[in-house]
Amino acid sequence: MSIFDETLTMNNGVKIPKMALGVWEIPDAQTPEAVEAAIDMGYRHIDTAQAYGNERGVGEGVKKSGIPRDEIFINSKVAAELKNYKDAKASIDETLNKMGLDYLDMMIIHNPQPWNEVNQSNDRHFEGNLEAWRAMEDAVKEGKLRTIGVSSFEKEDLDNIIKNSSTKPAVNQILVHIGETPMDLINYSQENDIVVEAFSPIAHGAALNNPDINKMAEKYGVSVPQLCIRYDWQLNCVVLPKSANPTHMKSNAEIDFEISDEDMDKLKKFTPVDYGQAGVFPVFGGKM
Ligand SMILES: NC(=O)c1ccc[n+]([C@@H]2O[C@H](COP(=O)([O-])OP(=O)(O)OC[C@H]3O[C@@H](n4cnc5c(N)ncnc54)[C@H](OP(=O)(O)O)[C@@H]3O)[C@@H](O)[C@H]2O)c1
Repeated sequence: MSIFDETLTMNNGVKIPKMALGVWEIPDAQTPEAVEAAIDMGYRHIDTAQAYGNERGVGEGVKKSGIPRDEIFINSKVAAELKNYKDAKASIDETLNKMGLDYLDMMIIHNPQPWNEVNQSNDRHFEGNLEAWRAMEDAVKEGKLRTIGVSSFEKEDLDNIIKNSSTKPAVNQILVHIGETPMDLINYSQENDIVVEAFSPIAHGAALNNPDINKMAEKYGVSVPQLCIRYDWQLNCVVLPKSANPTHMKSNAEIDFEISDEDMDKLKKFTPVDYGQAGVFPVFGGKM
């Protein structure tokens, strides 16, 4: 079976391809080409967001690929700042308009907190997240979304949705890479039948320069991105490597090797990587 055919089944019965293309920081004008190249080589899952400014480009790439719409899983994210029903609901329609699509396979709340509060405020916006959630639930009822989930939700944020709504999040998209493996949150999500999606699997590129990760990749005779992607894969996560380069996209999907249990344990204990300039992003510990 090709890597691209492998799926996980979410708690609503919908299957999600384990390998995805992330498109953060690909400019809208270049996105159709990147998405088309990825779909052409077999990728069947694309991960974008309202905040990336390239939803239009993703829609164009999907259409140009010529692959039937129902064979491609498309996810976008409701902007982190939209914590009321009306704005969240309107934003879903805007996403569909921009993409030129009738429905999305999934949308997720981009972050429990608006970006300018991440790492700065203890306000978890429980009410606001429930409002955004209800907007997404209604979009499911209207046939605009097939599945809904969340991103960077901690245990308390997940509990808020689980206890106060009738739809359990189908996924929790979180930062998981060698050097950053939140096993408690991964286990809590998976034990609750919530699929974990690993974002920034290559540490936003920072893994490439990490000597310890390089040494482990050499041991397996694979590239650093291949080791990183395989690591998240073996944690039973959906993996979302970003690349705008078709050569990279292709090699990133060549992960037909096995990391031993002993090395998985070692990799889980790796110390944090240096994100360099990307450390300013709230998702990597920075403040906006
Ligand atoms: N939910 C959230 O809050 C959140 C946050 C961050 C990310 N994400 C999602 O996760 C996706 C991936 O995360 P990310 O964009 O932070 O970074 P990433 O996938 O960890 O790393 C991407 C970087 O690695 C490079 N790269 C990829 N494959 C390579 C290869 N084979 N050889 C050499 N370099 C390679 C890319 O450059 P090239 O383009 O040149 O290949 C890019 O600079 C995002 O696109 C987004 O979809 C979500």
